Amino acid sequence: MKKVSVPATNDLCPQTLFVYGSMNENGMPDFGLFCWFSYCWFDQLGVMCAIGAPKRTLDNIRRNRVFSANLVVEDNLPLADYFGTADGRDEDKMNVAVEWERGAVLPVPILCSSPLSFELEVDREISTGERDETVLLCRIRNTLKDERLTNASMSSEAILQATAAVRTCVNCDYWSWDGRHLGRWHERAKEIKPAVETGAAAQGH
Ligand SMILES: Cc1cc2nc3c(=O)[nH]c(=O)nc-3n(C[C@H](O)[C@H](O)[C@H](O)COP(=O)(O)O)c2cc1C
Repeated sequence: MKKVSVPATNDLCPQTLFVYGSMNENGMPDFGLFCWFSYCWFDQLGVMCAIGAPKRTLDNIRRNRVFSANLVVEDNLPLADYFGTADGRDEDKMNVAVEWERGAVLPVPILCSSPLSFELEVDREISTGERDETVLLCRIRNTLKDERLTNASMSSEAILQATAAVRTCVNCDYWSWDGRHLGRWHERAKEIKPAVETGAAAQGH
């Protein structure tokens, strides 16, 4: 194999997608779409989230110190793409049909259509840039999972097939876990709101 140097990129690194749910000051939820998400270890499993620019999600998380991360799957991809397209600072963003409920442990909004949701509490924040770029290290206070996916007799393949998690990589595309193309960023959002415009906070991601 001959390797060549290229500009910094993660385009060959598939990333799992999560919808973060946070509470606005008026007690109503805001949802945004995120892929710079991975895991870390405290005294148990924790998560780390990179947030790339000022946005309502970050304002809410800093104020409340708690939020949810909800796995994106094929069935809720249009809604998730909408949450990653419309800007939460636009009062109209959440005027769409969204089924949500409160967390079992924390006062965070949970996306009902997601089969796996983490209820998260920020342990510490590490600033990485001058424009509010930051990394949040979070403790998992509770994990909510679709009961059907807790069946110990299911094979790993059957669990992955039933979960149908969505990934992203290369050129702003969405992919199924088994490699089917599911659309481009900001395209599936039009199934939720045909006239949706890409918000400033979503550009560059
Ligand atoms: C596929 C995709 C992945 C994204 N991942 C991130 C991410 O990891 N970090 C981030 O700061 N923004 C990310 N964004 C942008 C946010 O979703 C966007 O800023 C959105 O407006 C956030 O919601 P809010 O404005 O309600 O806070 C992503 C957008 C898309 C379409």
